[in-house]
Amino acid sequence: MEKVVDYINSNRQKYVEELKNFLKIPSISTLAENKADMTTAAKFVADRLTDAGMENVRIIETKGHPLVYADWLHSPGKPTVLIYGHYDVQPVDPIDLWDSPPFEPTIKDDKIFARGATDDKGQMYMHIKSVEAYFKTVGKLPLNVKFIIEGEEEIGSGNLDKFVNDNQKMLQCDAVLISDTSLYGPGIPTLTYGLRGLCYMEVIVTGPNRDLHSGTFGGGVDNPINVLAEMISKLKDNNGKIKIPGFYKDVVNLSKKERENFKRLPFSEKQYAKTLGVKELKGEKGYTTLERVWARPTLDCNGIFGGFTGEGAKTVLPSKATAKISMRLVPNQDPKKIAKLFSSYLKKIAPKTVKLEVSDLHGAYPIATSLDDKATKAAAIALSKVFEKKTVFMREGGSIPIVVSFAKKLKASPVLLGMGLNTENLHSPNEHFNLNHFHLGILSSAFFLDEFSK
Ligand code: BES
Ligand code: MN
Ligand code: MN
Repeated sequence: MEKVVDYINSNRQKYVEELKNFLKIPSISTLAENKADMTTAAKFVADRLTDAGMENVRIIETKGHPLVYADWLHSPGKPTVLIYGHYDVQPVDPIDLWDSPPFEPTIKDDKIFARGATDDKGQMYMHIKSVEAYFKTVGKLPLNVKFIIEGEEEIGSGNLDKFVNDNQKMLQCDAVLISDTSLYGPGIPTLTYGLRGLCYMEVIVTGPNRDLHSGTFGGGVDNPINVLAEMISKLKDNNGKIKIPGFYKDVVNLSKKERENFKRLPFSEKQYAKTLGVKELKGEKGYTTLERVWARPTLDCNGIFGGFTGEGAKTVLPSKATAKISMRLVPNQDPKKIAKLFSSYLKKIAPKTVKLEVSDLHGAYPIATSLDDKATKAAAIALSKVFEKKTVFMREGGSIPIVVSFAKKLKASPVLLGMGLNTENLHSPNEHFNLNHFHLGILSSAFFLDEFSK
């Protein structure tokens, strides 16, 4: 390991310069106007994998954005690790709130600011540099490695899901290594063992066949925005419980042991509220904040629009109102089942005065993995060596849709070795990545490959 470590330590600056070039590519998966940038980003990943020394590097076209695959399989009798990450990023709006342009990477206080810095370009890039360090020093890897990098994580991973299903042999592995989550805090070595799932719905309420003068017609017909607001208010009660019948049926409750483990982690409700700029926290009654964000399901409105939203005032009674509503799910809730329950409940509570359309935009299954697993144990050892501290275990409220498919279809244990911080503004303006964690992440990846090969 000594040569590998020295190599990584002496190339710190070079890695940052390379990462900057990756971050300059505006690979926003959800926007049609960035289609060409997706190809550029996939090619960048493929080229860096080739430079690193990986073999069989391929850009695989899908119905959506391309996948990048590579492997190195010359350690017979040793385990195989599949490394997953995503090169797509979220949109940048509201653009005015960025202190430096989102695709002009800028370094300030040892942090790199750009869209995708922490989610997930910077984190994914750590693994390419880790395998490169092995090839450039000892000339080989201690075990077998495959890479699968996608460009559609932020839009639900639909095409990768199909690819995993159709190519199980090609992706066969013993563990899946993923850096797309966060550390519990700066400098705290962390493994994430649970992710929430997601059910993302769109609701459109239509009233009159066109926007109407709100004076002439106001009082004569129902208003779709008012109707939608009333319907939304019936989704949760005052204790934060979701009122959709059957919603909690499959929920696995937190065990006493797990609740105790959560309580042992340093957490200040006051500090948490302060960093978020709220006076008080709020959520489901009977649970702590960590329990609520990691292991309890939620329902939230992500966006709501209709009628006049421009500057000034316009007297109008709108024809339509739309809401985007997401539910975060926990084991063993099924996003498809939840989507059906949600639709039926809305249909039941919608008044006859409006037309209702409910659609399921995308979803993800929740997961919680076992802590006894060999790969997880190797990762905990690797992290403790690099950070020189005991590894902590946490769950995460966010989702990574493909993880469940890896676990179920490839029967491989996911290792969520994330180096981000939840304060690094992922999906928000001024996204950034701590360069010290970037460096420690490259070392952690290298130590994990070594540890798991034993
Ligand atoms: N990397 C995140 C998941 C995540 C968020 C991990 C916060 C750790 C902390 C991932 O890229 C993401 O944003 N997932 C989406 C999935 C969705 C678009 C299907 C999410 O959770 O909203
Ligand atoms: Mn991500
Ligand atoms: Mn994301």
